[in-house]
Amino acid sequence: MAILTDTTEEERRSRTDAVLDVQDLQVRFPTDDGVVNAVRGISFSLRPGDVLGIVGESGSGKSVTSMAVMGLLPRSAKITGSVKFRGRELLGLNDAQMSRVRGKSIAMVFQDPMTSLDPVYKVGVQIAETVARAVDLLKLVGIPNAADRVANYPHEFSGGMRQRVVIAIAIANQPEVIIADEPTTALDVTVQAQVLEVLKTAQDETGAATILITHDLGVVAGMVDRLLVMYAGRAVEKGTVDDVFYRPRMPYTIGLLGSMPRVDAREQRLTPIKGAPPSLINPPPGCPFGPRCPLHYARCDEAEPDLVPVDVDNHSAACIRVDEPVATDVAPEDIFTDDSSDATLAAASALGARAEADAGDPLADALAGSAHSAEPNREQDARRDEEERA
Ligand SMILES: Nc1ncnc2c1ncn2[C@@H]1O[C@H](COP(=O)(O)OP(=O)(O)OP(=O)(O)O)[C@@H](O)[C@H]1O
Ligand code: SF4
Ligand SMILES: [Mg+2]
Repeated sequence: MAILTDTTEEERRSRTDAVLDVQDLQVRFPTDDGVVNAVRGISFSLRPGDVLGIVGESGSGKSVTSMAVMGLLPRSAKITGSVKFRGRELLGLNDAQMSRVRGKSIAMVFQDPMTSLDPVYKVGVQIAETVARAVDLLKLVGIPNAADRVANYPHEFSGGMRQRVVIAIAIANQPEVIIADEPTTALDVTVQAQVLEVLKTAQDETGAATILITHDLGVVAGMVDRLLVMYAGRAVEKGTVDDVFYRPRMPYTIGLLGSMPRVDAREQRLTPIKGAPPSLINPPPGCPFGPRCPLHYARCDEAEPDLVPVDVDNHSAACIRVDEPVATDVAPEDIFTDDSSDATLAAASALGARAEADAGDPLADALAGSAHSAEPNREQDARRDEEERA
């Protein structure tokens, strides 16, 4: 499989002072059904204090990416590329070497706090070597009566409080990188924001570069500087939070935003992305989002689009129609309409039926019925149709 690069020029320049530098990371799992291409060329660089959000649907490869960085994947996994911590290559280190890196230099916060805590030990013992330090850390993460609570067992805490304890353990050794994988997903909605706040405090306190992994774009908005949107094992859009939230270029990102409730929108119609991500075993050629994309047309099936710079050097997206969402100021509800998605999905049920779906252009159709000007689009599409016929 071709290695697809997703590193912009600006990122290449900033790699020199990176604390964590991941380049062209690929992870494959041989299985009885074939090779699962779980991560296909992910790259990112973090400098001290940077906060990166990795978002994407279930199965997009977020956890496999973080487990590869932490050296926690099963031996059967085939990992290529490079993961450097302060310039030292981590891929290929043995278990003893990796366990020195884990916890000390790179700490991880998992979704379920119970998996990180040992039920038979008091939390104080699990946090730090001295009681005084454990109490300080419990105070830092906002646990009331910390001096008494160090003597409690994990089951004596609520889910939200347990996750605070896990964050206290994660920062106990002043790590330089914290990876939080869905840290709030298992928690009650009411405590999710509090735990994110604690994570932010922990990050401020340690100055650690942080990766926040989530399937929920709403979680990352107030917390991260940069976003990496994953789909089918690849980065399909990268940029600052403002780039991705206000100037999204990849239809998948537009779809994610359209399916997310926003507090700033008075009247918002949620438009879910229909269908499911493709199989990661022998995926068909072309754009992996094609079967679910309302903007799909024949050329999308020719080759998988590479991540290309858009707007500014640090914003990139993987879509051959990358300029059109901005040129037409299109909103999620304009393109992810019920009708257009159904038509595209129905057509995608058999690759051979694609030609029918391409007879109309959902973007142009959507825009024709909206307040936006559709003229530039129609002209472009007519040109493309002619090219395709030639
Ligand atoms: N040990 C394994 N063997 C085979 N396939 C695996 C293995 N671990 C993960 N995968 C596959 O790799 C893909 C990516 O999985 P991953 O856990 O990274 O997804 P994710 O983005 O973290 O999803 P979620 O939001 O559900 O946590 C999935 O298709 C998964 O089934
Ligand atoms: S390349 Fe085509 S199918 Fe893929 S996201 Fe862009 S318009 Fe949609
Ligand atoms: Mg996961």
